[in-house]
Amino acid sequence: MAKKKSIIDLRKMKAAGEKITWLTAYDYPTATFGEEAGLDMILVGDSLGMCVYGYPGTTPVTMDQCIVHSEAVRRGAPNTFVVGDMPFMSYQISPQEAVRNAGRFIKEADVDAIKLEGGKRCIPFIRAILDAGIVVCGHIGLTPQSSGQLGGHKAQGRTLESAETLVEDALAIQQAGAQMLLLEAVPPEVAGFIRDLLAIPVYGIGAGMNTDGQLLIVSDIIGQFQAFTPKFVKKYANIAEVVTDAIRQYCDEVRSGVFPQDEHCYHMIKGEYEKFQSMTEKYRK
Ligand code: KIV
Repeated sequence: MAKKKSIIDLRKMKAAGEKITWLTAYDYPTATFGEEAGLDMILVGDSLGMCVYGYPGTTPVTMDQCIVHSEAVRRGAPNTFVVGDMPFMSYQISPQEAVRNAGRFIKEADVDAIKLEGGKRCIPFIRAILDAGIVVCGHIGLTPQSSGQLGGHKAQGRTLESAETLVEDALAIQQAGAQMLLLEAVPPEVAGFIRDLLAIPVYGIGAGMNTDGQLLIVSDIIGQFQAFTPKFVKKYANIAEVVTDAIRQYCDEVRSGVFPQDEHCYHMIKGEYEKFQSMTEKYRK
């Protein structure tokens, strides 16, 4: 069993040019599979709103939901670096609220770090959480919680102005003391510049190959989430097909009497059947 990574290991991996592997997980079984497969990090993303609860986006997700799912993931992956994702309105109200909710992730779910969306405007919240001794991962580029302000779920940094805003945000997040940064849906040329500019690890989801590691949503790569598939996703399995086929076969077999068979039954203890038969006599008319 590999040892759980620390932020020191993650920084050393950046220095050595060793890429980290990062996926979301929302439940105990997926976390066990991820740890068994050798993931470096797990994000309990607020994408659970769409992937687990079927909401149209992430904004309805609550702190309580994030905590419950983070607890399950921690139980399934005790030796993996787990990041809890601060849901919409869990930090934007005040630095105090931000610390209280980030602290819940640590106290109740034993995560290793929290992630929050936003650049310069989130610096007061990032600072407050860091001052409480909690490891912070910044998240800029396409930030789904504020996608309304971006005009939708659109890639960022594709114009000079937008790219410079990303560079400024990345520098501000590092300067505030955050230990890592996630870039979402950003051109690889901009991501590579930010990775080289920053001393902290810079990871990407939809940010191409020039990052210190990759994050994807587990429900996308295993073909479980059906509503849409972003351009940056590669599918490694089709779980929806496998599970639907299994359920269809089960329905067919129950209806046709093929399932269950004798091997699926608990028989009476030896010698008890004869007694049972005599007992049933009194019920027969
Ligand atoms: O919630 C999540 O899974 C995320 C990723 C999209 C980066 O924040």
